[in-house]
Amino acid sequence: PLDAQTTTALSGKHLLVTAGGTRERLDPVRFLTNDSSGKMGYAVATAAQQAGADVTLITAPTKLPVPSGVTVVPIESTQELADAVLTRLPAADGLVMAAAVADFQPVTAADQKIKKTTDNDELVLRLKKTPDILQAVAANKRPDQVVVGFAAETQNLLENGRQKLTKKHLDLLAANDVSRADIGFNGDNNQVTFLFADGHSDQTPVTSKRAIATTLISHVAEIFNQK
Ligand code: CTP
Ligand code: CA
Repeated sequence: PLDAQTTTALSGKHLLVTAGGTRERLDPVRFLTNDSSGKMGYAVATAAQQAGADVTLITAPTKLPVPSGVTVVPIESTQELADAVLTRLPAADGLVMAAAVADFQPVTAADQKIKKTTDNDELVLRLKKTPDILQAVAANKRPDQVVVGFAAETQNLLENGRQKLTKKHLDLLAANDVSRADIGFNGDNNQVTFLFADGHSDQTPVTSKRAIATTLISHVAEIFNQK
């Protein structure tokens, strides 16, 4: 449940939330993506809406129902996500970047379906880095805006998380151990360690993504109050 302080701090605030795994097209019928279900981001959007925020959910394709009372902006690729975030950021008070963004995209997407060839048993894909959206956001954000990232790690969770918090100029980072089968990408439960800009951290128990989203949103409210 959301406390009164959270609701007061977030009431009327415009929050952008991103969710799902981006898709990078190889050809008209194929793409590269990842295991993200979108559940964590959708839970954050729902918790923010319930706290009285005006929420825009920028989402890669998922199997999830649209949360009620939330404006949905569908995207597929990382470039589309970057464009959607950066055009809306000036009018927003905050951003929660829960999307699992592809780090690489094909150098070129084929216009036609890639065919099997008789003279070739291997297909070599050339990939290039996608734009880092949070890095671009950091360069454009105002001091009154709150920006939250996630970190998906399979090792050195806290050390890697701290580095991302600093490098991406975040107010808050939710570090996620994605090597564990019981939590993370596809399930209904999760466990995160919240890393704050002032150096302190706070680990949640293993609990529902809904409960973690509520805690995240209450931290966002506290950060707004400190700005
Ligand atoms: N992110 C982003 N743009 C990208 C890649 C990631 O904005 N091109 C965001 C994610 O949405 C997340 C945060 O950056 O909030 C950290 O993502 P993560 O994949 O953990 O870190 P990376 O910086 O991509 O580094 P790596 O995957 O190598 O650990
Ligand atoms: Ca990444």
